[in-house]
Amino acid sequence: MPFDYKVFSGSDILITGGLGFIGSSLARRLVGLGAKVTLVDSLIPEYGGNLFNIYDIRDRVIVDLTDVRDAPAMASLIKGRDFLFNLAGQTSHLDSMTDPLTDLNINAAAQLHILEACRQHNPDVKIVFASTRQLYGRPQYLPVDEKHPLNPVDVNGINKLAGEWYHLLYHSVYKIRTCALRLTNTYGPGMRVKDARQTFLGVWIRHLIEGIPIQVFSDGMQRRDFNFIDDVVEALLLATAEKASEGQVFNLGHSEHISLQELAALLIRLNNGGRYEVVPFPIDRKAIDIGDYYGDFSKVTTVLGWFPQVPLQKGLAQTLEYYRKYRAHYWESTP
Ligand SMILES: NC(=O)c1ccc[n+]([C@@H]2O[C@H](COP(=O)([O-])OP(=O)(O)OC[C@H]3O[C@@H](n4cnc5c(N)ncnc54)[C@H](O)[C@@H]3O)[C@@H](O)[C@H]2O)c1
Repeated sequence: MPFDYKVFSGSDILITGGLGFIGSSLARRLVGLGAKVTLVDSLIPEYGGNLFNIYDIRDRVIVDLTDVRDAPAMASLIKGRDFLFNLAGQTSHLDSMTDPLTDLNINAAAQLHILEACRQHNPDVKIVFASTRQLYGRPQYLPVDEKHPLNPVDVNGINKLAGEWYHLLYHSVYKIRTCALRLTNTYGPGMRVKDARQTFLGVWIRHLIEGIPIQVFSDGMQRRDFNFIDDVVEALLLATAEKASEGQVFNLGHSEHISLQELAALLIRLNNGGRYEVVPFPIDRKAIDIGDYYGDFSKVTTVLGWFPQVPLQKGLAQTLEYYRKYRAHYWESTP
């Protein structure tokens, strides 16, 4: 049966990390579906939150600048919500190695506070947690399915694993309706592109637009899969609305896999210019690199009927167009 979006109309929704890339895109879609949306975000400098991400829906959402580590404040924000999209996160893998405790407090401890608040004040809420393919570490086989061993290669992966498992535990023990999506590289309008803090793809886009050569580490043969933001938003909606998701984890992914060197060449073609250079892997990044990764997303297709609809080339073209137009809001406006 086709998915019925009416479930969101008039519903009361909280999105943590709502001024970030994925949270703001989700908010835009939910507002369009008639939901009452509240965004919680701490806007910590150098993280991915950006008020410009909601420039077109600013009057149709409530913004609450709370830090998810503030347990009492989160408890009152969670009361009475129908759906909670739990997307706030420290997302830099390198930062998690230089400042592991901040990562622990945001990606693990705060998640436990949020779940406790749900258990005590809103046990009927449905929660979707934004997990990551980083939990698998270096793949032992490809494509990686949900049964693949979990072996994170960095502190961020361990803390996200704890965050994910707290959600699953609160379902198995307390019957809170939780689920988790293990996202792969997600890209599109609203992603942080200022530097390589979060993802190499972001800074590649910035550099291409600025006419600076993009840097491909090592030989660039590592293969990856990428999801365009609209597809990820659709997965979040499905996971929230469908009962079959409860207590489950799902990989997202894409059937197009591409090496980083091929990706660089594709971006240059779509940009009508630019060049890339192959450079040695920086030691700190090499130590936590996972090599080739692409996910098996057949479970989410079977259970929730989700599959990615946006081809890489189309999504990248749309992303480049967005940053050409709005670059001032993503890098030039900051000192
Ligand atoms: N984008 C990807 O490729 C990808 C891949 C795997 C997993 N994820 C997960 O998806 C989620 C959203 O990612 P994104 O790409 O939108 O990142 P993002 O950085 O754009 O958004 C995260 C948001 O969380 C906010 N935030 C961080 N710490 C906070 C805190 N302590 N309190 C309140 N808000 C806080 C940030 O300000 C930011 O707006 C993250 O949890 C991330 O781990 C993303």
